[in-house]
Amino acid sequence: MITDKPGLLDEVRSRFAHVDACPFEGPRVFFENAGGALRLKSVIETSAAYAGYPDNQGRDNPASKALMAAIDKGRADMRLFLNAPGGQIFVGESGTEVLFRLVRTAALGAAEGGVMLGSTLEHPASRSAMARWADVTGRPHLLAVHDDATGTVSLEEYQRHITTDVRVATIVQTSPVTGMSVDVPAIAAAIREKAPEAFIIVDGIQHASHGHIDCAAYGVDGYAVSPYKVFARHGYGFGWASDRLTACKKEQVVGGPAHVWELGTRDAGAYATFSDVVDYLDWLGGRFTEATDRRARVEAAAAAIHDHEARLMGAMLHGTGNLRGLAEMPGVTLIGGAATKGREGVVSLVLDGVESGALVNFLSAEGIRVHVRNDDHYCGNILKPLGLRSCIRVSVCHYNSLEEVARFLSAIEAAAENRGAGAS
Ligand SMILES: Cc1ncc(COP(=O)(O)O)c(C=O)c1O
Repeated sequence: MITDKPGLLDEVRSRFAHVDACPFEGPRVFFENAGGALRLKSVIETSAAYAGYPDNQGRDNPASKALMAAIDKGRADMRLFLNAPGGQIFVGESGTEVLFRLVRTAALGAAEGGVMLGSTLEHPASRSAMARWADVTGRPHLLAVHDDATGTVSLEEYQRHITTDVRVATIVQTSPVTGMSVDVPAIAAAIREKAPEAFIIVDGIQHASHGHIDCAAYGVDGYAVSPYKVFARHGYGFGWASDRLTACKKEQVVGGPAHVWELGTRDAGAYATFSDVVDYLDWLGGRFTEATDRRARVEAAAAAIHDHEARLMGAMLHGTGNLRGLAEMPGVTLIGGAATKGREGVVSLVLDGVESGALVNFLSAEGIRVHVRNDDHYCGNILKPLGLRSCIRVSVCHYNSLEEVARFLSAIEAAAENRGAGAS
């Protein structure tokens, strides 16, 4: 546990930029991590350095060789982070673009006919890609329906749709609205049992900053990460594709190597910033294990992150000190229930009598940054079945503290008390 080691949480926080204060608004608690995590200071330095290098890859000069070494190292670190020994790692424009590319390649590469299977829990990135390529390839797009009460989609619900006909399947590992995780290995195994040739693609974008990733164990074909949600920065997403998926025809420069997914000149700085992320996890994990192996230390970091966040989420839902938690507050409706098990960094809620946008502004005035989610094309899949127009999303990472959770709980109590007097 991070807080069991004296001074470690402060050390962790010192490695991130803008932890206590927004550069535009001033002091605040940052609970908008699902919209984009805090950036490592090392990432900012690396980004600036690489933005300044004029040289290009593939030349016989020291600068070019250094850029190519950074790309190779970044790719190896991404592979290690995902535990994806085979297949190919590639960088794209965003997590959404990477998911579209994986789904498109799978849909066009799979045997003709059959169905494409996803779920209503998915972010529109994968769901839209599946809808589009099901349409183009003339396949039905089947959807396993998530459970409003638990905020997740079960193996049993997927099983209702799994047949030998599944050609492409998508699984979101954690919902960015309910915060609840999905049993990826079990669902992937169930698909493989009936449709061994299916291409299975996982959206790991909300999950990635909260714990363990093990593509080798999942038995899937594709995985997508958005680095700005994992302590790095905007400007790129990255994906992993199995050898089988990589072997499918895809957009490529004619005559180029067949395994390459990337199109055009790569941003060496993108790769280098992900090495910073893995260096950080390596450092953090090294505080919890004697192991010298980098992957073992990344796994130890994942376990420490998971434990700390579970404590934060427990406090958020069930209270800390003399403060009651959200689950005990009258007038608070939690989206997807009050479970702490399976919850990864997010609680979304509605406070009776207070419009969600107004609640976000009230919390902002109290020095707490959260975000409103509306029943639009991003979150309507979760909010519409509940008959809700909006909610607020509160999202934490391992650098947040119990004191920050306590400040949030006090502020929500104040918002509830203020209901008649202007918070609404
Ligand atoms: C689960 C999930 N998938 C996909 C995305 C889209 O990622 P990007 O913004 O990198 O395109 C998000 C972003 O919020 C997300 O949370």
